[in-house]
Amino acid sequence: MQIEAVKAAYRRYARFYDAVFGPVLQPGRKAVVNALQCRPGDRVLEVGVGTGLSLSLYPRSVRLTGIDLSHEMLQKARARAAKHKLDHVEALLEMDAHAMSFPDQAFDKVVAMYVVSAVENPARLLDELHRVCKPDGEIFIVNHVRSDNLIIGGIEKGFGRFSDQLGFRPDFELSHMLDGRHEVTQVSRINFFWKVMRVKNGVVRQRF
Ligand SMILES: C[S@@+](CC[C@H](N)C(=O)[O-])C[C@H]1O[C@@H](n2cnc3c(N)ncnc32)[C@H](O)[C@@H]1O
Repeated sequence: MQIEAVKAAYRRYARFYDAVFGPVLQPGRKAVVNALQCRPGDRVLEVGVGTGLSLSLYPRSVRLTGIDLSHEMLQKARARAAKHKLDHVEALLEMDAHAMSFPDQAFDKVVAMYVVSAVENPARLLDELHRVCKPDGEIFIVNHVRSDNLIIGGIEKGFGRFSDQLGFRPDFELSHMLDGRHEVTQVSRINFFWKVMRVKNGVVRQRF
């Protein structure tokens, strides 16, 4: 997937994203925020924050930064933060997650919700998540991963050719992100479609 195709897809989605992807993806957002076990004052980065559907889930005691590639999605997130007076949201920035402008080890917690299958280069994204997270920090990902079921996985693979138009890879596999350098230790899922993953020192733990 090319960056311009991703931007074009989310420009199209922005108006109706919340209606289509709001409630259906909310269990995964909640699972990630719960797993973070945020402490007061934690600096949290949410990469690919989209329209900000997760913003109100975080405790008000954290300092939250969201970034996204899509201007149109971010506009929705900013409007949401203003409307609901989400004072824990320090910044919502237009930025490419492949090359973030934050210094190394800037955040206590780093989160990517339904993003690793939507970026051009998932392996580079994972490197960036590690770079900006403190060594004793936490990185959590929630995403769909291509099914092991031969029929469903086959259908997802078939839809893979439409990734540019869809704005995500329906046939996303962990190998796209791990690139041979990171390790998968355990497998579990929050429901049929989505898995929450904890990434620690280059190891992706799908059970935590
Ligand atoms: C499926 S949406 C998920 C949005 C949000 N996290 C949610 O839970 O609804 C994927 C988001 O990733 C963003 N995205 C894709 N590639 C990106 C990149 N390279 N840098 C930052 N954001 C990116 C898209 O613009 C889009 O808002």
